Amino acid sequence: MDKPSIVTCTAPVNIAVIKYWGKRDEDLILPINSSLSVTLHQDQLKTTTTVAISRSFQEDRLWLNGKEEDITHQRLQSCLREIRRLARKRQHDGDARATDSVGLSHKVHICSVNNFPTAAGLASSAAGFACLVYTLAQAFGVEGELSGIARQGSGSACRSMYGGFVQWIMGSKEDGKDSVAQQVEPESHWPELRILVLVASSERKPIGSTSGMQTSVQTSSLLQHRADAVVPRRMVDMIEAVRKKDFPAFAELTMKDSNQFHATCLDTHPPIFYLSSVSQQIIHLVHRYNKYCGETRVAYSFDAGPNAVIFTLQQFVPEFVQLVQHFFPPDRNGEDFIKGLPVKCAALPLELKQNIGLEPVPKGISYIISTKAGPGPRVVDDPSEHLLSAEGLPKKTA
Ligand code: DP6
Repeated sequence: MDKPSIVTCTAPVNIAVIKYWGKRDEDLILPINSSLSVTLHQDQLKTTTTVAISRSFQEDRLWLNGKEEDITHQRLQSCLREIRRLARKRQHDGDARATDSVGLSHKVHICSVNNFPTAAGLASSAAGFACLVYTLAQAFGVEGELSGIARQGSGSACRSMYGGFVQWIMGSKEDGKDSVAQQVEPESHWPELRILVLVASSERKPIGSTSGMQTSVQTSSLLQHRADAVVPRRMVDMIEAVRKKDFPAFAELTMKDSNQFHATCLDTHPPIFYLSSVSQQIIHLVHRYNKYCGETRVAYSFDAGPNAVIFTLQQFVPEFVQLVQHFFPPDRNGEDFIKGLPVKCAALPLELKQNIGLEPVPKGISYIISTKAGPGPRVVDDPSEHLLSAEGLPKKTA
């Protein structure tokens, strides 16, 4: 058997603070508005993908979180086709970096895992497709702009191709060539910024983003208004807030944009509800806390599910986490409740608790992941971390 050539990479999750919701082209995945996100640190949340290429492989194969999956999935095929097309182009152009040892006709084996539970309800498709495209590009010796290919896997995936603060420019071309992600500022730009993912316990499975936004485009006039009249200005203001590290401005835009996204969901017919009663409690908690403090210290953002993503500054984390623990008393002890970056203990003034005036919801939040902004996709150098064996088969099944 021909020895496969193997490469492993990791890619991050991102959280949009100006949301993408709605496509103008379903196949190319072109959005109706630009969006902006923060890339989360891979120490806490990441996808790892190994790609093996060999002339001995009979067919392209895919394993996700330990289970073999259908590789004929249309969006996956788009990514594979686009990477092979770029590799072919490079070979024709006589680019030395383009691989000729790795034949373009050779089949690939792909194996991918997340370091966070799918049950956490965190969008894994962004990290997943970003990692797939980045790893395939490494395997086929393709370089340069790749976010346009990741976009064809899942819209939000294009933003996971960069670290720090990233905008996805909607573009105007019909072929989508100008609909790409760009780094606004690197992860080192705002070191005090902290992100807390509050994983809400939820029984029901919400409507997926793809079909949800499709119905919104068809039925919500608020969505079109948002895209035309609200987001363009908000993108400018958000970029300025990020550049200046102006937390109150960043926080207000983040909360308003999350709320407008959920308003367009309610304006969809039939309406879509992503926020749970716990999500609403968190929204109240944040506003009452900011009011009590007399300044904006904390912001929330919610995607297509009930989990809250909290943005705050390092110095406010201990008190706010304590507050969350007070109003959503967990089942288990504090250490288990908080995963990721360590959080110092803080005392809660009685006056603060009374001022918030919410009824505690026991076990409303399963756990918190404490993290910060982080870098874009990375190549993993240590071969012991490959998910595929030297023969190109999964090392272990989950
Ligand atoms: C609410 O990128 O998951 O998280 O392009 O159909 O794969 P597809 O949708 P997806 O939508 C993400 C929606 C969102 C907002 C955002 O991340 O900008």
